Amino acid sequence: SAAEKDGHDWFMRKEIFEQPRAVADSLIGRRGAGGLLQLDEMRLADEEIRDLDKIIVIACGTSFYAGMVAKYAIEHWTRTPVEVELASEFRYRDPIVDNTTLVVAISQSGETADTLQAIRHAKSQGARVLAICNTNGSSIPRESDAVIYTHAGPEIGVASTKGFLTQLVACYLLALYVAQVKGTRYGDEIDEIMQQLEAMPDHIETVLESADAIYELARAHVGARSVLFLGRHAGYPVALEGALKLKELAYLHAEGFAAGELKHGPIALIEEGLPVLCVVPPRGRDQLHAKMLSGIQEVRARGARTICLAEEGDQAITPYADDLIRLPQVPVLLQPLVAIIPLQLFACELATALGHDVDQPRNLAKSVTVE
Ligand code: G6P
Repeated sequence: SAAEKDGHDWFMRKEIFEQPRAVADSLIGRRGAGGLLQLDEMRLADEEIRDLDKIIVIACGTSFYAGMVAKYAIEHWTRTPVEVELASEFRYRDPIVDNTTLVVAISQSGETADTLQAIRHAKSQGARVLAICNTNGSSIPRESDAVIYTHAGPEIGVASTKGFLTQLVACYLLALYVAQVKGTRYGDEIDEIMQQLEAMPDHIETVLESADAIYELARAHVGARSVLFLGRHAGYPVALEGALKLKELAYLHAEGFAAGELKHGPIALIEEGLPVLCVVPPRGRDQLHAKMLSGIQEVRARGARTICLAEEGDQAITPYADDLIRLPQVPVLLQPLVAIIPLQLFACELATALGHDVDQPRNLAKSVTVE
């Protein structure tokens, strides 16, 4: 009923708007004495964390894209090597796993068969397994050595939204915790990064305030046959997740690319009027922003219609954006938390305009319990 959906037409739309609260809830109680980060429920001893040689993140679907962001954050903040792998590939390729490996399984439902089989394999090889999961007492956390629960609350829409954001938060917390225990350089910046994370619910709220403009843009794309998404760094998994949302909900051909790969193939796809959604990284000291800008120029010069997601104050992007959606100014590693919001709204509205069932897309299941 409409009441269950808080007056929204779909659970998905309700869940998109719940994201500021879901992110805030995921951060409650994480700061302990002396400003130290605490992850009590994790149950991994400090020695175990210090002895880690490598981390392998395994997941499926949207959770896999959270894992890609996790890799960037964990390696940057902790200097621990991280691999990210699709759960369905992991077990069948004879991966190198032993008792100095931490396998991190990310699953909203905790029941995805591919992920469950992958952790069973990892355990049989001696690895420690940490689950990042939204469902208390589900199979994946039950079979793991440790768990970080996400605090999204029940997610009903088949396409994951608040589940994804809370997974990102859990991944950042894990990364910062490992940095703290290992005493890396970033161990001293935890307080600052936590403050940046604590500001995210307000930033997400700000993006949600531009929902109407994004809906209008989505409705203008009802006739699109294909949509491309470009991103770099932490914006690359956002591009992939934005494309996945369009496939899942609008049944539209959509692909995400790392913008640096354009010249190695995808640019051949560009033709007059093709919509290309570009996740523009913040303007930092490095070359990231300039490189993205040149990618956008290249596709636009070949006729693409560019829809750019760029931070407030980024004027360099304006001449190359046919449409411009503003994002709050946040560090690049945290940008997925704000950059995915317009893409969720875009897919939800476009699917609605096409007359599809947004909460129960054809052929998909909320939790896939067969391999
Ligand atoms: C299904 C759902 C996706 C989800 C994926 C992984 O495909 O439709 O939304 O991302 O499973 O689910 P999990 O519960 O393991 O995160």
